[in-house]
Amino acid sequence: MSDSPAPDNAFYVLVTGANSGLGLGIGARLIDEFLQTRPQDESLVLIITTRDQRKGDATIAFLEEQLRKVCRKAEKTLPGVSQVLQRRVLLRQERLDLLSLVSVQKLSKKLRDTLPKLDVVICNAGIGGWTGINWPLAVKTVLTGWKSATTWPTYKISGVGWKTKPQLPPNKDGSTREEPLLGEVFCANFFGHYMLGHYLAPLLAKRTRTEPNLGRLVWTSSLEAYEHSLDMQDIQCLTGEQAYESSKRLADLMAVTSVLPSTEPHVNRYLAYEQPHEKTTKPRIYLSHPGITHTPIMPLILVIDYVWRLVCYISRWVGSQWHVVTVDKGAVSAVWLALAKQSTLDSMEQKEGVGKWGSAIDVWGNERVERTEMEGWGWGGKVGETPRKFGRSPYAKTLTREDQEKFVRDGEKCWEELERLREDWENRLDEAGVGVSMD
Ligand SMILES: NC(=O)c1ccc[n+]([C@@H]2O[C@H](COP(=O)([O-])OP(=O)(O)OC[C@H]3O[C@@H](n4cnc5c(N)ncnc54)[C@H](OP(=O)(O)O)[C@@H]3O)[C@@H](O)[C@H]2O)c1
Repeated sequence: MSDSPAPDNAFYVLVTGANSGLGLGIGARLIDEFLQTRPQDESLVLIITTRDQRKGDATIAFLEEQLRKVCRKAEKTLPGVSQVLQRRVLLRQERLDLLSLVSVQKLSKKLRDTLPKLDVVICNAGIGGWTGINWPLAVKTVLTGWKSATTWPTYKISGVGWKTKPQLPPNKDGSTREEPLLGEVFCANFFGHYMLGHYLAPLLAKRTRTEPNLGRLVWTSSLEAYEHSLDMQDIQCLTGEQAYESSKRLADLMAVTSVLPSTEPHVNRYLAYEQPHEKTTKPRIYLSHPGITHTPIMPLILVIDYVWRLVCYISRWVGSQWHVVTVDKGAVSAVWLALAKQSTLDSMEQKEGVGKWGSAIDVWGNERVERTEMEGWGWGGKVGETPRKFGRSPYAKTLTREDQEKFVRDGEKCWEELERLREDWENRLDEAGVGVSMD
């Protein structure tokens, strides 16, 4: 299955960090929904990235088993259909370490040389960067405000000042080459994906058939993307205590403002996009988050891990719409953004503005995609919009014109700074002789 050539009408999706947690959920759900909703003559080419071959092999084996499950189920209602379904999914694995910019470049070059196009890149991989939990505070806040404390926790302890290993090789005499610091959480969660998106944009822009959908970059955010976590003087959060939350706020600001006219010159440069053309369209950046999903992102000892899972279910039963708990349900927003018709996304944005799309759930376990409030943007950037009753963070306030203007200004500054950083690192890698040319 994995080695057969892709047919002309294939839909190409890349998922990063596919070997664990939500990555597995996204892969499995994508296969299931694609086979159920797309015409029989369309195939899915699912490219998963992991940090090593062993994880890649295990992920492919898991996804093959998921595909067999879907086929067995379909076979019961339509005997013989499983052979057709099997042929409609092709799996491929690649290596990617987001903490190494050269690794990002190598993978991008390989994909550019071997794929006719890409339809969707789901930037899922990420790290928490936490070192532990403030247990007294955790117990106190959970007991005094269960839903809020399990959805917007204040008790995670973050590593401070973590930086990546050097990106540049040593000088010929063995001395270390000078290079600026690159924040580890910033690079794993945001900057590595940012560079990847830049190099893959030409593949996302390509349209090989009459294709109404735009190429999509799906960035993964979180409910914890607080305004106060991102220091505009320290975008990488090298000195702050909320590196994870800061990286997610950066994703919110930049994804939402990527469609505004004021960021267009930066975004066009980032997406390497100049002119609309018969065979190309400008890719779009969309923003998703998986609600609260039980995954290994916060390493806990086994007993505590079981307790945390139970706590998550209780939160759902007492009315938290964000406690989706399982990876299959957590994947619903990213998979929806990957497969939704362009007309659906466009008309939702036209009516209610550009949004952040989260995985949500009801008390019976029925998952759905839900717009999510952002500080300074609300649900869709509309001052005066009616506040929704449920799923609001404790920091939420009614959107004012001033807050919204600040959100946009911050987004513009981030685009300017990130483009500067990207070009700076590209020059440094080239000068050190390790940069990979995309030609
Ligand atoms: N779980 C939640 O409730 C939740 C909530 C909001 C947002 N999210 C976001 O959802 C995404 C997935 O998280 P998860 O909960 O599924 O966590 P997870 O189970 O720990 O999975 C993280 C994935 O990212 C990969 N990864 C980490 N560092 C990497 C690097 N430097 N290069 C390449 N891959 C790397 C991991 O690979 P290895 O196995 O090799 O480490 C793993 O495949 C993250 O962006 C996270 O911020 C999760």
